[in-house]
Amino acid sequence: MIAIYPGSFDPVTLGHLDIIERSVPLFERVIVAVLCNPHKNPLFTVEKRIEQISYCTKHLKNVEIDSFSGLTVEYARLKGAKVLLRGLRVLSDFEKELQMAHTNKTLWEGIETVFLATTKEYSFLSSSVVKEIAQFGGSVTHLVPENVSRDIYSYYS
Ligand code: PNS
Repeated sequence: MIAIYPGSFDPVTLGHLDIIERSVPLFERVIVAVLCNPHKNPLFTVEKRIEQISYCTKHLKNVEIDSFSGLTVEYARLKGAKVLLRGLRVLSDFEKELQMAHTNKTLWEGIETVFLATTKEYSFLSSSVVKEIAQFGGSVTHLVPENVSRDIYSYYS
């Protein structure tokens, strides 16, 4: 079974990486899909985010990285995937994620959303938290993969 792990990944964090690594034994193939959203003002381009995720997942054989625009379910259908994978950190995620899962189901009955509980050490972690810390000169080496940490350092220096 193929699973799509969709998201902004701006940038990918250790929390995302934890979900990716733990999804590997569960699915035949996992496609990490970076959303191209022209309405957002990202820190990193989609190409850079793909490069960052590819680098830190290169040890994982059944993981591929891609980008998409438009509806996630349409992308999933195109890829022959019937599962969307999402991480759940805290209760507030649940509301948003459940709404998204239900919405996606109305768009395509064939899609299922599978939630993985984020490892508790990363339950506070988000790309926004990383950007906020980095913007004020704080260290994010404990929050993101090493290659991403280097990119963030270059960006802000
Ligand atoms: O990492 P994020 O930003 O929480 O990921 C959100 C994402 C990309 C999964 C979600 O915004 C999404 O699926 N966007 C694509 C548009 C879409 O399909 N919308 C309908 C579902 S609400």
